[in-house]
Amino acid sequence: MTATDSLNAIKGTRDILPEEVAYWQWIEQAARQIFSRAAYREIRTPIFEQTELFARGIGEATDVVGKEMYTFIDKGDRSVTLRPEGTAGVVRAYIENGLHVKGSLQRLWYLGPMFRYENVQAGRQRQFHQLGMEVLGSADPRADVEVIALAVDLLNDLGLPNLRLDLNSVGTPEDRLRYRAALVDYLTPYQAELDPDSQNRLSRNPMRILDSKIAATQKIVEAAPKIWSYLAPDSQQRFERVQQQLTDLGIAYSLNPRLVRGLDYYTHTAFEIIAETGLGAQNAVGGGGRYDGLVSELGGPETAAVGWAMGLERLLLLLQQLKSAPASPLDFYIVSRSPAAEAQALRLAQALRHAGFATELDLSASAFGKQFKRADRSGAAGCLILGEAEAEAGTVQLKWLASGEQEALSQTDLLNQVETLRQRMQRSLELP
Ligand code: HAM
Repeated sequence: MTATDSLNAIKGTRDILPEEVAYWQWIEQAARQIFSRAAYREIRTPIFEQTELFARGIGEATDVVGKEMYTFIDKGDRSVTLRPEGTAGVVRAYIENGLHVKGSLQRLWYLGPMFRYENVQAGRQRQFHQLGMEVLGSADPRADVEVIALAVDLLNDLGLPNLRLDLNSVGTPEDRLRYRAALVDYLTPYQAELDPDSQNRLSRNPMRILDSKIAATQKIVEAAPKIWSYLAPDSQQRFERVQQQLTDLGIAYSLNPRLVRGLDYYTHTAFEIIAETGLGAQNAVGGGGRYDGLVSELGGPETAAVGWAMGLERLLLLLQQLKSAPASPLDFYIVSRSPAAEAQALRLAQALRHAGFATELDLSASAFGKQFKRADRSGAAGCLILGEAEAEAGTVQLKWLASGEQEALSQTDLLNQVETLRQRMQRSLELP
């Protein structure tokens, strides 16, 4: 790279600019409120971990581990990986910090950046953000239903339309072994007609062929045996209870026997939330399910668990199509001219902020006309004007921007009238 090359963000990463941050905060606020009402607590884990955690947790045969991990050797010669998802790290933290002995059940949620080296397209990035939750320590089907209900609550709270909940059971590892054999038996005669990716998967991970996006493969898969016929009676019963309880809560779902998740740790319940419009090819807003074997696989005690994660960028794409971001309201915009006035304006801004008013100080030292224009555009309720005369007299002009009404006040009076100002601010903001 030469000095003249521009230093751009890395492919697949994006800056989140201030206009967009309002949407992020909106989602975060809704999530915090909904999750804490259900007794979920936030957990924050590191964004990089030992590579082996993901290899063992997510599965060597998955695309995520096989092709998409950001793995490197650090200066201490350790293989580390930027987390491609949140579950493995949460489970590691659960085991390492003895959370299983601190309480019989942990309800956790998290939000943060994840990294996958994927082909970049709309809604698919290399650094993206997930909002997720995990319930560790309960095998009760009501836990599955609770996490799904909270996802639905959040999406409803954000007002997102046209979402579909797809539901399946992938059974126990034993159920899957039986199903896998039947699936391979069915697919083998069609091997030559499958797309190259699916041909590869036939021996490594045949269930992933079920969610191939390639039309020719999809056609073959249509008549494939369904996993439901291979579920042991216990698994079948469990699946039915989840469905019954979702129905009890009035949560609509579509059964989809071809729903297999891209990560290997799932048992029993698997689900995805699909946007039927607005996202194009990358239409999965979120996904999750039960993973009863992961805690023990990673060295902890046998622990049943269930959870999900949503892609925040995808939620954001949907939200942006729907409504404009809430602006953060400004109370005062201060304009000033002359050295004495500028110094007083700085002090006044500080005092108003301390009194709880959102206050922006014009720093341009340009002509009043230009500063007034910026005040108008700022969306503030009031503009405070300090010229040479005001600075000498210790006064300030207060102009209510919606009505154009203007009055002169001493600076001390202004600061003493906090309550009156607050009330007037309300009235002024309510004007059309
Ligand atoms: P996942 O289905 O791999 O599940 O990812 C969850 C969501 O993250 C996806 O539905 C999608 O919205 C978003 N996402 C995934 N990859 C990308 C990407 N490259 N760019 C943008 N968004 C993306 C998991 O990660 C599991 N850990 C979920 C879970 C939690 N299961 C149990 N507990």
